[in-house]
Amino acid sequence: MATRWGIVSAGLISSDFVNALKLLPPGEHRLVAVAARSLERAKSFATKNGVEKAYGSYEDLAKDPDVEVVYIGTIHPYHLPVGSLMIQAGKHVLCEKPMCMSVKETKQLIKLAKEKKVFLMEAVWSRFFPVYHEMTKRIKAGEIGDVVQVLSSFGKSLEHVDRETKRELGAGTTLDLGIYTVQFATLVMGGEKPEKVLAGGHLSAHGIDESTSTTLVYSGRRLASLASTIRADLPSEAFVIGTKGTIKTLPRQHGTSFHDAQVPFFTRGLTTGGLLQFLFSSIKCCISIVTTLNSSLSCWLTIPCGVLRASSHLQENTSHYFPNQIIVSTLAIVRV
Ligand SMILES: NC(=O)c1ccc[n+]([C@@H]2O[C@H](COP(=O)([O-])OP(=O)(O)OC[C@H]3O[C@@H](n4cnc5c(N)ncnc54)[C@H](OP(=O)(O)O)[C@@H]3O)[C@@H](O)[C@H]2O)c1
Repeated sequence: MATRWGIVSAGLISSDFVNALKLLPPGEHRLVAVAARSLERAKSFATKNGVEKAYGSYEDLAKDPDVEVVYIGTIHPYHLPVGSLMIQAGKHVLCEKPMCMSVKETKQLIKLAKEKKVFLMEAVWSRFFPVYHEMTKRIKAGEIGDVVQVLSSFGKSLEHVDRETKRELGAGTTLDLGIYTVQFATLVMGGEKPEKVLAGGHLSAHGIDESTSTTLVYSGRRLASLASTIRADLPSEAFVIGTKGTIKTLPRQHGTSFHDAQVPFFTRGLTTGGLLQFLFSSIKCCISIVTTLNSSLSCWLTIPCGVLRASSHLQENTSHYFPNQIIVSTLAIVRV
């Protein structure tokens, strides 16, 4: 039976999401409804993307009994209120990253999902790209020996984008770009909590974290060095360096296979080329999890808990740099 989707917001990433979903075999998914703050925008999105119904409020979508799982593509500060609204209405939720604005908020949402017995997951799409699976498989097989160091950066010149610079829109490099580097390190380190976190950064004139550099110190003589910024294009590469070799991952334009070394950090411009296969894969994985709720979810808990713990630690250790800024990176999947 088709999975029945409701889409919250008619913005950029929602558009990417439905484009990806539409590429899956018809019959597997239905785009039941889209909601936006304005009915006009929702209608226009629905017409363009073949969505069955359009709503001018998120509340109306929450009330639609036809909607089974909701994809939340609003800007970050709305993830908690909209996520709570949908979960309260008994909907499963796939929420864009960052799950929430703080660890406290994230825990609140997870608690609610557990209480209401619904599926909740942060949409870190890259976790489902085949290259990540290939990488972890090779690390586990010992192909690069013992992991010594992760080096990862993600930076783009984004100071012209409102949601990257305005506090009320959830701005800041950590929540937008930094979380990719944290989740990458956490994946390589097997979800382990770092023993120590050393971090520094710069705030913009508006008090937004614009550049950060972080070292995570792990057990077993392992380290991760991470950088992110909204001020300039960084290499946006990731390296896993071991005693016998290195796995090098680059932005997608450098190649299309793992041996060409690429991790598709970027998800904009998704409509062309080989990246689509990763999208298929990511969405398929998300959906298969949704549809196997009763059988296979408990095994997913180790990954999200690890990221959550690492982020709490980060937040603690960088509070003097980000007095009002919360740092969080989570992959939250809740067992029903
Ligand atoms: N997983 C990924 O690879 C990836 C990539 C990019 C972004 N994201 C995440 O996706 C989310 C949305 O990013 P985006 O680039 O799609 O953002 P966007 O297009 O600027 O905004 C998305 C939606 O948020 C709502 N919104 C925008 N400004 C608002 C405001 N001032 N007040 C209230 N609501 C507002 C609007 O919803 P309505 O349509 O209802 O008006 C808008 O359509 C972010 O949390 C971001 O971190 C994820």
